[in-house]
Amino acid sequence: EKGGFEHFMLKEIHEQPKAYRDTMRGRIDESGKKVVLPELKLTADQIKNIRNIQIIACGTAYHAGLVGRSAIESLVRIPVETDVASEYRYRSPIVTPETLVIVVSQSGETADTLAAMREAKANGAHVLAITNVVGSSIARDADDVIVTLAGPEIAVASTKAYTSQLIAFYLLALYLAEVRGTQTPEAVAQIVAAMQALPEQVESMLAKPDAIKAYAEHISKHEHLFFIGRGLDYAVAQEGSLKLKEISYIHSEAYAAGELKHGTLALIEEGIPVIALATQEAVLEKTVSNIKEVNARGADIMAITHEENVAGLLKSVDQAFAIPKTLPLLTPALSVVPLQLLSYYASLARGNDVDKPRNLAKSVTVE
Ligand code: M6R
Repeated sequence: EKGGFEHFMLKEIHEQPKAYRDTMRGRIDESGKKVVLPELKLTADQIKNIRNIQIIACGTAYHAGLVGRSAIESLVRIPVETDVASEYRYRSPIVTPETLVIVVSQSGETADTLAAMREAKANGAHVLAITNVVGSSIARDADDVIVTLAGPEIAVASTKAYTSQLIAFYLLALYLAEVRGTQTPEAVAQIVAAMQALPEQVESMLAKPDAIKAYAEHISKHEHLFFIGRGLDYAVAQEGSLKLKEISYIHSEAYAAGELKHGTLALIEEGIPVIALATQEAVLEKTVSNIKEVNARGADIMAITHEENVAGLLKSVDQAFAIPKTLPLLTPALSVVPLQLLSYYASLARGNDVDKPRNLAKSVTVE
C-alpha cells in the first residue's frame, strides 16, 4: 500500500509530479495556451462583477491560500484577503453578493472551514471550494468546486494536497484573468507553459535527496530554528515551518525576513539554524541583507535559491540548495519540495512516527 516507500508521507511527496499533471489535465485547452474550467457555474458576468475575494482555510491549506492570494492579486488585480477559518467569523468580515469566497480544504471536512463557509454563504457570498474529496461536506455545500486530483492523502502532514492546491489556484487565477482581460493571451500562454514544466522539475529534485537528508540530520539535533523569506518565499517559509514542527517536533518560526530586526533578531545566537528562502529575484537583494544580519550573529544558515545565486550567497551562508528555475509566481510549487523532504528526514532522524505525529488527526472535525 505504501508502494515500496517506508512511509505514506514519502510516497505522497513522490506522487506530486502526478498530482500536478492530474490537476492540470482537462483544464488547459488543446492549444496548450489557455485555461478552461468547465466545472465552474460562476458565469463570465459574475466573474466580471467580483469586487473582493476572501480565501478561508486552516493549516497547510491556509498556506496554499497565501500563495493563491498573490496569484490572484498579481494576475487579476482583485483585492484578496486570506483568513484562518477559525478566526474568520470574529472579525465581522465584509461580504456582499460581489464577494467571492474561496474555501480550501484537502479533506473537505474541517469543522472550522465548514463553519466559516456557512457564515459566508449566509451573508450572500458565492462560495467556491478547492478540495481533494469530491463527496465531502464542503464540496456538497459550496456553490462551485474545483477538485484537486492529488489522490488520497494518508499521512497527517499534507504534501501533495498542498501543491495541488497551488496548481488549482494558478489555474483559477489564470482563468479569472482571461475572463476579466487582465493579462494578454501571450502572458497567459507563458505561465501555462511554465506550469506544464513543473512536474519534471519536481522529479529532478526528488531524484537527488541526499543534500537535504544530510542537512535534516544536522538540524534534528537542534530544538529551535527559523525560516525566513520575503513575499512568496515567506508564504513557503510558513508552510515549511508548520511541516517541520508537525512531524519533527523541532520548534521553528517562520519570519518575514524584513521583520527580524523588529524583535526576533534578539533570538539569533551562535549556531542557531536559519533556513533562508531566497528565490524571489525581485526582493533578493533585500533578503540578502537580512541573511547578513543573521550571519553577523553567528547563525548557521542554509539558503534555498537558484543556481546562479549560489556563489554570491555562499559569502554569507553556510550552505545553499539550488532549486530549478520557473516563473517567480510558480516558484512555491518547487521551493516547498526540499522543505517537505527536510521535515520528513528530520522526523525520521528523531525516530518519530512520521505518518502519525502525536496529538494530531488527519481531519479535524471539531471547532
Ligand atoms: O483537510 P484540510 O485541508 O481542511 O485540513 C486543514 C489542516 O488541518 C491541515 O492542512 C493541517 O494543517 C495539516 N496536517 C498540515 O500538514
